[in-house]
Amino acid sequence: MASVKVAQVDEVKAGGCKVVTANDRDLAPYNVAGAFHATDNTCPHKGGPLGEGDLDGAHITCPRHGWQFDVATGQCKHDPAARVETVKVVVQDGDVSVEL
Ligand code: FES
Repeated sequence: MASVKVAQVDEVKAGGCKVVTANDRDLAPYNVAGAFHATDNTCPHKGGPLGEGDLDGAHITCPRHGWQFDVATGQCKHDPAARVETVKVVVQDGDVSVEL
C-alpha cells in the first residue's frame, strides 16, 4: 500500500470536497469539520461525480440523482445494498494523502 498526496489541507475547506486522480483512480476527498475522508469519485448508481456534489455533515449528495452516501463508511442512505468504496486518508504536514 502506498501513500499518494492528493491535495493540501487548505485546498479542501471544511464542508467541502473535490475531485482528484491518484494512480489513475478518480477519488473524492472530503473535509468533514476538519476530519478528512475519501471515496471513489464514481457514484455506484449511474456513475455521477460524487466529488462535485454537496457535502452536508458526513453525507455527500450525488449531483446526478441525489443519492446520499456517508463519506466515512461509504454506505448509501437510500439503498442499504449500495455503497461507495472508501479510501483511507492521512493528513500530515499540511498534505492530504490517500492510502492506495
Ligand atoms: S448517478 Fe449518483 S445518484 Fe444517480
